[in-house]
Amino acid sequence: MAALKLVGIAGSFNRPSKTLALVSHIAGIASDKRGFTSKVYDMLDVGPSLGDATWRKDLDGQAEAVISEIVSADLLIVGSPTYKGSYPGLFKHLIDLIDPRELRAKPIIITATGGGDRHALMVEHQLRPLFGFFMSHTLPTAIYASDRDFADYAVSSEQLSKRIDEVISEIDAFFPGSRPALYAAE
Ligand SMILES: Cc1cc2nc3c(=O)[nH]c(=O)nc-3n(C[C@H](O)[C@H](O)[C@H](O)COP(=O)(O)O)c2cc1C
Repeated sequence: MAALKLVGIAGSFNRPSKTLALVSHIAGIASDKRGFTSKVYDMLDVGPSLGDATWRKDLDGQAEAVISEIVSADLLIVGSPTYKGSYPGLFKHLIDLIDPRELRAKPIIITATGGGDRHALMVEHQLRPLFGFFMSHTLPTAIYASDRDFADYAVSSEQLSKRIDEVISEIDAFFPGSRPALYAAE
């Protein structure tokens, strides 16, 4: 059986980026546990054509390739930095260029980072409704991480790791036929 495909998209232009680190961290754990193939992108991977694109057909090949990866994922991990209590405008623009049918029923782990805890509900009040519009299956546990949860752009907090374990355990409900990576080589 072909490995299931996990794709992560981090809505940050920064490198290094806490959002990219968080999405990559969760993708790594999910892949190890469930044997997904895994690829993570950020907004620099999407490239400069996004800002000028009114329609999807206006994107260059670089940006179109990232959207193709997003919509063809079996499991998606979305991560967004918090800007003014919500997601950055250009990240929303990327999502705006996706046809509503393309994310329907897709399992999505929603995650966000922010400077502090004040906007921790951004995941519930902004990201979950956004993917509700697409009729995606956002997993029940949403992950929010603040500056405090990272050391040198790596996940360092035990509390955050526990929450990540919770969402990882929720993945199984969507792939009942898939086997843990441990047995994938048999
Ligand atoms: C324009 C801008 C607006 C921001 N607004 C917020 C905010 O409203 N709440 C918050 O907690 N952090 C805010 N931050 C901090 C970022 O969300 C935080 O540093 C984030 O982890 C950056 O992610 P990155 O390292 O992936 O780029 C803001 C940062 C910028 C640059």
